[in-house]
Amino acid sequence: MAYSVAVLLSGSGSNLQALIDAEAAGKLGKARICFVVSDQAEAYGLQRALVHQIASAYLPLPRTRNSTERPAIRAAWEQRLATMIAAFSPDLIVLAGFMRILSPRFLDQFPERVINQHPALLPDDGGSHYTTSSGIQIPALRGAHVVPDALAHGLPLTGCTIHRVTPRVDDGPILARTEVPILPHDSIETLHERIKLEERRMIVEVVARLSLL
Ligand code: GRF
Repeated sequence: MAYSVAVLLSGSGSNLQALIDAEAAGKLGKARICFVVSDQAEAYGLQRALVHQIASAYLPLPRTRNSTERPAIRAAWEQRLATMIAAFSPDLIVLAGFMRILSPRFLDQFPERVINQHPALLPDDGGSHYTTSSGIQIPALRGAHVVPDALAHGLPLTGCTIHRVTPRVDDGPILARTEVPILPHDSIETLHERIKLEERRMIVEVVARLSLL
């Protein structure tokens, strides 16, 4: 039986591409990508899905100037997202550069089935520090700007993590992690690209592994 995977993204979708390529090469275990959804119309990941004839959708979060309406609008958007995804009965939902936080109400509809890619090192214990393989303690970077944050902190290294998603943002049981050294002349772009090389390798390995459990 195939293991169906939905991918949520907001950007370029190079991790989606790694999954598509691995599936085509027979390197994704029993996993099959069944659905791709983005909250951003220009997300190149949507084009990648279309090229490969994968069912895909664009579901924008409606904007409003009225801040009192915002929670209800967001809840309705999230419920539409959940309904859309549920139509594909995915065994796994991969947040591959999806720049929205999902509420417990969403997560409860897909228990244990949502995983996230985070472009920094997260500890096993949900704490504020990560101990590197050489024993150095560095801050556990969370949020949407962790690549520039790693440079701003002057860290010797950073990395990437894949974890199960829980209601606590950038937390949850760790599935894979790789350390990436920060080089003297790294810019945000050069560092992020080296991190993404590892992320693409890890997401293929994790999805394949989960599909064979
Ligand atoms: C990755 O670095 C991921 O960790 C972060 O967004 C990036 C997505 O890259 N959350 P891409 O869109 O798959 O190229």
